[in-house]
Amino acid sequence: MEFLLKSGNLAEQKTTCLVVGVHARGDLSAPAAELDQASGGEISKFLKRGDFQGRIAQLQFLYDLPNCACDRLLLVGLGPRKEFSSGACRKATAAVTTLLQESYAIEAITTLPLLETGESSLYTRLRDAVTTTEETLYRFEQCKSNVEKRPRPLRKMGLFIGQQRKTKALENAIQHGRAIAGGVTLARTLGDLPGNICTPTYLAEQARALGRKSRNLKVQVLEEKQMQELGMGALLSVSRGSRQPAKLIVMEYQGGAANARPVVLVGKGLTFDAGGISIKPAAAMDEMKYDMCGGASVLGAMAACVEMALPINLVGVIPSSENLPDGEANKPGDIVTSMSGQTIEVLNTDAEGRLILCDALTYSERFNPAAIIDIATLTGACVIALGAHASGLLGNDAKLTEELLKAGVECGDRAWQLPLWEEYQSQLDSNFADMANVGGRSAGTITAACFLSRFTKKMKWAHLDIAGTAWKTGTEKGSTGRPVPLLVQFLLNRCGLAG
Ligand code: BES
Ligand code: MN
Ligand code: ZN
Repeated sequence: MEFLLKSGNLAEQKTTCLVVGVHARGDLSAPAAELDQASGGEISKFLKRGDFQGRIAQLQFLYDLPNCACDRLLLVGLGPRKEFSSGACRKATAAVTTLLQESYAIEAITTLPLLETGESSLYTRLRDAVTTTEETLYRFEQCKSNVEKRPRPLRKMGLFIGQQRKTKALENAIQHGRAIAGGVTLARTLGDLPGNICTPTYLAEQARALGRKSRNLKVQVLEEKQMQELGMGALLSVSRGSRQPAKLIVMEYQGGAANARPVVLVGKGLTFDAGGISIKPAAAMDEMKYDMCGGASVLGAMAACVEMALPINLVGVIPSSENLPDGEANKPGDIVTSMSGQTIEVLNTDAEGRLILCDALTYSERFNPAAIIDIATLTGACVIALGAHASGLLGNDAKLTEELLKAGVECGDRAWQLPLWEEYQSQLDSNFADMANVGGRSAGTITAACFLSRFTKKMKWAHLDIAGTAWKTGTEKGSTGRPVPLLVQFLLNRCGLAG
């Protein structure tokens, strides 16, 4: 889809459809009020009839507005003015997009980015309009045989900025929005693909394909033999139970100075998690195809960075495997030796994410990271603690966690911090090895992070548990692409480019 900035006089905008917001109880937003005045009070006259109240995401077309160049007006409800937020604005934009996609309009102009929400900048609001529109248009149709073609899909969206100048920052908002949306779409597509298609080999191929698109991106895929040589006994113990060979995907993007320390993103790429010998119950097990969403978010964030040519060095590392029951699979009580040399008693083979991540984290030390962030659908406990709205965040560096929390708020892809206090560590005590891979029923998200912390002591590290945020369940089942927006916002902030 094409997005472009539109400036000038609102009533003079020639377009198939001009979108303006109305708050609850017919309270006109500034652009709506401007058109109302230009048209001699047509909008308020209509509102008096009471059909349209301005409830959040309520929609209404109006035709033949006097003194206005647009073919039609689309009123969209914004809810109570006092409660208006970037979240409410996204809901309105999504509703508009869905309606336009199904209606006659191939092209439209929206005034919603002009509406202030808290402290958000126009840059952020424009970027939000782009990402929300693209995210609403996403469909996963690759595996359907009869896909209905839309007769007149939405092709072009004008973003109205009033009398303001089209500055570089505002143009950037569109470019960044498109790049983020592209990264989100990539992550969602990989997530939604079934486990029999999206295998570790498939993920590796996607990374290679990304590498072919940019001269600044070097992609390397380590095979099991190389992992063996590196001593990755934890990672390999998981893939031993699967017929699909494990892959360790390593992507190095150089956008910054040759000697600048990189940010390293490590994403769990478990392409199907049956639990192994500690097998999961059958209900909703299909959703464990989403256990590679951390890895997919690394690919998505990397793709966005490449697209924006960010002046930063970024490394993406994705340990990828399946976790299945098999005669060669890990058995409860087995003891494995990680690349770090630390031994692990595998008390539950379903706590496999930390086993593949710990070796990937140790491997990542070689990049001398400025910061390392791992992203994983790691614990069901995180879904219980935080539900679907916030990713869990834990780490060993207060400044880094603060940066991530802030980035999440800025882009609406939020995280919430949980404590990583020393007191929790003893839950991982083992009678037979250096540590157990599980810490009992209590504080499951925290003990999982405690486990990882033992492999990241030398680095500034943060961990995002995305078990509740990476996909939606129920009738809306599908990948969300989170936390690609959060990661990209974090990187843009580090480059000083988000605004
Ligand atoms: N991939 C799962 C975590 C998960 C479960 C995410 C359900 C989203 C929904 C992970 O590998 C796992 O199985 N974790 C176990 C850990 C436990 C054995 C300590 C869990 O959360 O049950
Ligand atoms: Mn598991
Ligand atoms: Zn898992």
